[in-house]
Amino acid sequence: MTKPVRIAVTGAAGNIGYALVFRLAAGDLLGPDQPVVLQLLEIPQAAQALSGVVMELEDGAFPLLHDVVASDRAEVAFRDADLAFLVGSRPRTAGMERKDLLRVNAEIFANQGRALDRQAARDVRVLVVGNPANTNALIAASNAPSLSTHQFSSMMRLDHNRAVSALARKAGAMIRDVAGIVVFGNHSSTQFPCIDHATVRGRAALELVERSWYEKEFIPTIQQRGAAVIKTRGASSAASAASAALDHMRTWIRGTEGSSWTSMGVAADGSYGVAPGIFFGYPVRTSEGSYRVTQDLKLDEFQRARIAASEKELREERDGITDLLPR
Ligand code: NAD
Ligand code: LMR
Repeated sequence: MTKPVRIAVTGAAGNIGYALVFRLAAGDLLGPDQPVVLQLLEIPQAAQALSGVVMELEDGAFPLLHDVVASDRAEVAFRDADLAFLVGSRPRTAGMERKDLLRVNAEIFANQGRALDRQAARDVRVLVVGNPANTNALIAASNAPSLSTHQFSSMMRLDHNRAVSALARKAGAMIRDVAGIVVFGNHSSTQFPCIDHATVRGRAALELVERSWYEKEFIPTIQQRGAAVIKTRGASSAASAASAALDHMRTWIRGTEGSSWTSMGVAADGSYGVAPGIFFGYPVRTSEGSYRVTQDLKLDEFQRARIAASEKELREERDGITDLLPR
């Protein structure tokens, strides 16, 4: 039998966790021939709810689900993990910015970085979803000195998917017709969803939509979409976030198709003028669990100013948690 892939999910009894684990069990990430072991982490107060999730996983009779481990100890949940989804943390509520969660959630990611360092498979790939995701990824990676920073990433894919969907709707096109979108920067209201290089059915997007729509409607709508969902649904996005997490991990493992790129939060490396020391949303091409920041996009003043604003915010977030950065 094919060796099962061990997938750790933190916050597995939460809203995103509940939308994610059944899709992982069904093979939506790794396909119909790859068995999986789910290694689920929760805090002790949610242990009973997690037991209920495990019961439902059993009742789903998923042919690919080889085993389920449920624990309130990161050391157990991360043992030999090949892939890790770091979701568990507090979501914001109406009126908050994601960075208001920084001090509340930061320690979780320092502890989990250390546990991954000790327990996970040496080639583990880690996706940080819990907010503020970019800075939490920085914290986790910094606390895992035996792993490469390149094994960590933060989620920009929900913003990316939102941007693709909004452009497709505006242009009267299908999702598959849209290429070349990138969301630069922070998963926050300073993010820069960029369609300057995007195409719709092979035509430049900016030949199909008006510049004023792009600047005055599209950008603020994508930047504020998370808050709009919270206001409308009464809770933080969950199913779309879980779906984006699957998309992110799948693209990272399987690779970007053709010549296009996706958006991932990765360690800044000087690309597009962003100095190292933060996790930044970039256009990346991926292959078999590695990524390369795409260098070919030309930036004008408009784009550079927006990238700089998001970089500034991320440096301020970093300044707020330097005590949690051992390297
Ligand atoms: P939720 O409150 O429904 O669930 C979070 C779960 O995490 C809870 O069950 C809680 O018990 C658990 N948890 C808390 N601390 C934990 C710890 N130390 N270890 C393990 N589990 C722990 O929240 P949610 O809606 O599932 O959202 C989870 C996080 O994801 C939030 O921070 C939210 O803001 C974030 N989020 C990020 C994106 C993104 O695009 N990056 C999108 C949506 C939500
Ligand atoms: C989102 O973008 O939907 C999430 O990050 C939740 C939030 O706080 O906006």
